[in-house]
Amino acid sequence: MTSFAERLPKVELHLHIEGTLEPELMFALADRNGVTLPYASVDALRAAYDFGNLQDFLDLYYQGANVLQKQEDFFDLAWAYFTRVHRDNVEHAELFFDPQTHTDRGVAMGTVIEGLTAACKKADEELNISSSLILCFLRHLSGDAAVQTLRDALPYREHFIGVGLDSAEVGNPPERFTEAFDLAGAEGLHRVAHAGEEGPPEYIWGALDALHVERIDHGVRCLEDAKLVQRLAAERIPLTVCPLSNTKLRVFDDLSQHNLPRLLEAGLCATINSDDPAYFGGYMNDNFVQCQQALGLSDAQLRLLAENAIEASFVDDARKAQLRASVQRASEGA
Ligand code: HPA
Ligand code: ZN
Repeated sequence: MTSFAERLPKVELHLHIEGTLEPELMFALADRNGVTLPYASVDALRAAYDFGNLQDFLDLYYQGANVLQKQEDFFDLAWAYFTRVHRDNVEHAELFFDPQTHTDRGVAMGTVIEGLTAACKKADEELNISSSLILCFLRHLSGDAAVQTLRDALPYREHFIGVGLDSAEVGNPPERFTEAFDLAGAEGLHRVAHAGEEGPPEYIWGALDALHVERIDHGVRCLEDAKLVQRLAAERIPLTVCPLSNTKLRVFDDLSQHNLPRLLEAGLCATINSDDPAYFGGYMNDNFVQCQQALGLSDAQLRLLAENAIEASFVDDARKAQLRASVQRASEGA
């Protein structure tokens, strides 16, 4: 018997597609593209996934992305993600991608976006999973580089719905990206940003006030600032929380110490997401089931988390109604 947590229909809003590159696929693509990986085997690579902080992870994550070179590589990557989360009852996903990780090593913007778009289309047609793409700027690079990246992506404007901000947070506050986010706003794109993962609550304020974001990715450090919590609750700014990521990157020592229950008690629109599941040891169901066990979440809280994600998504009202009906059906069978 599968549990309610497993059966629950899900919406994933914080997922880096490059972070779904499983070691087996990394080796297969390395072979296909003639890339030599600095690991002898899949097991040796997996053994290296022991991170002390975000930067430790990012070093391996950017290195792994080197095997992604051709349009079909990006297609295979995203298609593997969709087939995997189909088993977890994910019905809608908003995927982050990091174009600078690829364009800076000579891969064309169109190669990345067209490969990912083809997988999204197939997921809709064959798996009934709706999805969209969100272009993330790397915050360890300059504000000008972000603006240029967005300009380079505008010929593919119809294929992505928003922009985000990721990579090393501490020392890279959001304000440097004001121009890129203003340009995105003028293009009618949605805006989100990682903030308050390792960085302080001030970075969440900055994302709201300087970048005008509609959602905060992570945001778990908001509880250090009561005024900020008030604002996030009053404006229903969603937080895309990633529990297994937070324990792997030592934001919390143990899942049982995660502040997800306190975020919900504060009335925040918190959601559960997997972030970089190939690196953090779990896709959506692993996150839901392990949170339920470690934090003692009730079925009602799990349902609330699923409904928060529907509310927080960038789909239209008709699709939201379909997703809510799907959660309702699963709850009746609980
Ligand atoms: N934080 C910042 N940058 C990232 C992450 C993350 O969790 N995953 C991939 N890039
Ligand atoms: Zn992330």
